Amino acid sequence: MSFFSFLSRYTLDCFRDTKRIVNYFDLVKLNNILVIPKIFFIKLFYGLSFIRNFRIKPLDINISQLSNSNLFKISPSKEIIKDIDDFGYSKPFMINENLLDSIKNEIFLNQNAEAKIKNINSAQLLKKNDESLNDYFLRLRNSKISRITGYINLKNKSYVRDLLTSDLFLKIASQYLETNKFSINAAYFLSNPLEISEQEKYSNAQYFHWDNDFRKFLKLYIYLTDVDEASGPHIFIPGTHKDKLKEHRLCRLYKDNDIYSAYKNKIIFKGNAGSSFFVDSYGIHKGETPIAKSRLIINVHYGRGKILYTPGDLYYSI
Ligand SMILES: [Fe+2]
Repeated sequence: MSFFSFLSRYTLDCFRDTKRIVNYFDLVKLNNILVIPKIFFIKLFYGLSFIRNFRIKPLDINISQLSNSNLFKISPSKEIIKDIDDFGYSKPFMINENLLDSIKNEIFLNQNAEAKIKNINSAQLLKKNDESLNDYFLRLRNSKISRITGYINLKNKSYVRDLLTSDLFLKIASQYLETNKFSINAAYFLSNPLEISEQEKYSNAQYFHWDNDFRKFLKLYIYLTDVDEASGPHIFIPGTHKDKLKEHRLCRLYKDNDIYSAYKNKIIFKGNAGSSFFVDSYGIHKGETPIAKSRLIINVHYGRGKILYTPGDLYYSI
């Protein structure tokens, strides 16, 4: 691909993605009209690695006080910021069992689940109070619902909000994003092992891709069920948050073969319920399609500056 052909495709992609995201999340209503040039500017300039990685001073990697150890069975490593910066992901840590149970119970109180398929009424998507998690998974599978997304309202007091706004997580976000002002969004994703169309796979982020929604951002994954090879683990290509091969510098979807043949390492995040990790999703990643078991996860983003994606997002200034 010549430089000019790359440039025109890259710019058109930025237009297309800005339009798609602004419409999908109704961003003008949640923010204001200036969100359109803001997102376009981010996509155009911060999609380029040399701009995104440019730093005036070295990253502050010092996380000395782990004051939130009561939240964890296995605490995040003190090297967490260095790990994310060097490789694009942190070592997994575990939130404690009581907290995990509380979070699992409370996320379904959230009444705004949506599925990316038509002709399903929203009451059908929600977990009933007297239904076990396994029965809920089964009911959805029988209704051929491959995936449910529910946005978590962080404006309400909750266990998940306490965890996401704990001193430690705020410190990790502010140091990695090099700012004291950032936006936080949290959603849960339930994925079922069903034969799905290419279109669903596409909209479920089950193809390799990279994200570019803020000048700098960090994603946190919290597994609420055990995740192994059969239940759709998260997969990340180490180092691609810093640089990608020329052929993957367009913000598009890539087939497994294109990625596996081009990069020699991949990280597959398997772990028991409670297992959690941070990722810089500017690197190439995907959620694998579950093949045998259902999966329930929470996905959080901490993004530099103020862009609200749902009414329940927080804008934090520390
Ligand atoms: Fe993504």
